[in-house]
Amino acid sequence: MTTRILAVDDDAVNRKVVSVTLSKAGYEVLTAQNGPEALEQVDDIQPNLIILDVMMPGMDGYEVCRRLRLKPSFARLPIMMLTANDTLEQKIKGFEAGADDYMVKPFQPAELQARVQALLRRASAPQKYQAVQAESKVIALFSLRGGVGISTLATNLAVSLAQIWALPTVLVDVALTCGQSALMLNLPLRNSLANLAHIPLEEFDANLVDQVLLSHPTGLRVLAAPPDPEQGDLIKGEHITRVLQLLMERNHYLILDLPHDFCETTVAGLDLAHQIVAVMAPEMGSVYTMRHTFETFDKLGYDRSNVSLVLNWTFGQQGLARKDIENALGQRVNLVIPYAPDPLIDALNTGTPSVVKSPDSPMGALFEDLAFYLSKEEHRAEQPAEPTAAWKRIFQRQQKRKRKRKK
Ligand SMILES: Nc1ncnc2c1ncn2[C@@H]1O[C@H](COP(=O)(O)OP(=O)(O)OP(=O)(O)O)[C@@H](O)[C@H]1O
Ligand SMILES: [Mg+2]
Repeated sequence: MTTRILAVDDDAVNRKVVSVTLSKAGYEVLTAQNGPEALEQVDDIQPNLIILDVMMPGMDGYEVCRRLRLKPSFARLPIMMLTANDTLEQKIKGFEAGADDYMVKPFQPAELQARVQALLRRASAPQKYQAVQAESKVIALFSLRGGVGISTLATNLAVSLAQIWALPTVLVDVALTCGQSALMLNLPLRNSLANLAHIPLEEFDANLVDQVLLSHPTGLRVLAAPPDPEQGDLIKGEHITRVLQLLMERNHYLILDLPHDFCETTVAGLDLAHQIVAVMAPEMGSVYTMRHTFETFDKLGYDRSNVSLVLNWTFGQQGLARKDIENALGQRVNLVIPYAPDPLIDALNTGTPSVVKSPDSPMGALFEDLAFYLSKEEHRAEQPAEPTAAWKRIFQRQQKRKRKRKK
């Protein structure tokens, strides 16, 4: 069967260049002159890949991409953008629209052929995770105070769990109005929870939810938050409950990046969590909101023994003492994360969490060890039959600590 590519461009010369280049590589190329024409024809054409010019009169390539992504049948279709320049702004817009790759014009024919081939290869890679039956462990990261490191911890823990156990693991970004998990993992926002918002709840099934997950090179999969707050508003508590229940059927670990509130979607996530990691910074605002958080947890009936408290030094100096915080809250701090602005900002700007970029660095090791500590008991109890590189790193660190204690 030939591979079919739809090239959308308002410029006749560009359409010709793309057609000739890709026909030479053996693809069947169809063209459309503008966005509306492409959207009208796409169901009939059923392309394997779409190439979209960004600057088109009427409807630009970003809008065409966004509209395609809202159709479940095109949620995973590889889309390449042809942009006029390589600026940060263009990259972010392409990312938000859900493009998989982009090329700057003018391009070399060989590069277009190579990139198309790579995109098609990735898209046709078998879905490894289809029929896994697993007892899932759901770990929720929560704080009523913003900016305390929830997303940093959620992304690092999720990647770590995927790397340590090489088992199906999903990061769910429940921060519906401005979730940044996909950005923090450098994943194009080709799908998100927004894809599910218009589908009746009774039609949700595990395959549908699988369709909208983004795949990270480490094996982690991500259910991203919608690209804009308006779409986030369409997601209700019942959507979150159903989606999580379906993900729990097929995955060993679910990590929830929760927003800073107790609204119904957040509580839907907390209700299903086996372990809640409450995060705070060493300042009064955090102590105050954490008191309120623990009171609310009690009212909601969450078992305190399933709640861990993490103290994250998001600033350098003048913080409150650990002992004072513990006394004020009547709760032990389980882990202190030191102030480490440089590696974390670099991780943020490059979309590469510490546990990927430098798993042996102090921050990488700390996140990885925390992920191991939060892992299922039956996983921690025994050496895996085929230990991963991450598992070996953790094991070596444990041995080193044991030797130190003996001395
Ligand atoms: N231990 C730390 N040392 C230095 N900077 C940190 C530390 N932890 C987090 N940060 C920085 O604090 C900022 C907020 O972190 P992050 O986005 O993870 O928090 P959040 O709680 O998810 O915030 P939001 O309210 O935006 O959801 C980021 O710039 C991050 O790099
Ligand atoms: Mg966040």
